[in-house]
Amino acid sequence: MNIGILGAATVGETLAAEFIRAGHEVLLSNRRGPGSLSLVIHRLGSQARAVTLEQAAACPIVVLAIPWVSVKEALAKLPKWEGRILIDATNTFLNYVDFTVDHLGDDSGSEIIARLAADARVVKAFNTLPIAGFFNAAPEGHKRVAFIAGDDAQAKASVAELIRSLNLVPMDLGTLGSGGRFMQLGGVFSGAELLKTNDL
Ligand SMILES: NC(=O)c1ccc[n+]([C@@H]2O[C@H](COP(=O)([O-])OP(=O)(O)OC[C@H]3O[C@@H](n4cnc5c(N)ncnc54)[C@H](OP(=O)(O)O)[C@@H]3O)[C@@H](O)[C@H]2O)c1
Repeated sequence: MNIGILGAATVGETLAAEFIRAGHEVLLSNRRGPGSLSLVIHRLGSQARAVTLEQAAACPIVVLAIPWVSVKEALAKLPKWEGRILIDATNTFLNYVDFTVDHLGDDSGSEIIARLAADARVVKAFNTLPIAGFFNAAPEGHKRVAFIAGDDAQAKASVAELIRSLNLVPMDLGTLGSGGRFMQLGGVFSGAELLKTNDL
């Protein structure tokens, strides 16, 4: 499967490497453009391509892996999503100096993203741990859990299948409004590391 990634830093490159290991092709993009990604593509190998944000966003499944403060600007530049899946991996930090968290009032990060990318099917995933934590070796007989939340059952099923291809166990926490709040900063599953035994 072709997977687009918006943002090519820690999350973008780590997920790209894992997607490639699972046999997928990745189209990686960032703000500065494909020319700035040659080293990253060299590290990832021939199943990775550097593309524009628009080209990455045209894939059937796209990962949003950019700073929260850039989300509005980045999504505004992209064409209509026409039902394509947007995996929201963001956390709502206002900066990476003192890690102040954006105050969203009654709103939630993923619901804001779903409004900004109006016709995308948004699934929240991969935000609850430092990204490498999802891929640390699990104890024998266990797999790591990756939580997901979203409002579209088919989109969640596709993301769950993608997560399984990474040798993780998807765990559906419900809608963006409920599960998404559990997963975002301050939510009960933010920072939660969960293992599932292979037997049950
Ligand atoms: N780091 C983790 O372990 C981790 C874990 C879970 C969730 N998250 C969340 O995942 C997101 C990505 O985190 P990160 O640590 O990988 O890196 P980051 O520093 O948040 O993002 C850097 C990437 O975003 C791109 N970018 C910035 N502004 C952009 C814009 N306006 N349009 C397009 N691309 C833009 C940058 O492109 P340029 O280099 O060209 O500027 C760069 O590729 C964040 O929301 C973070 O909170 C991070």
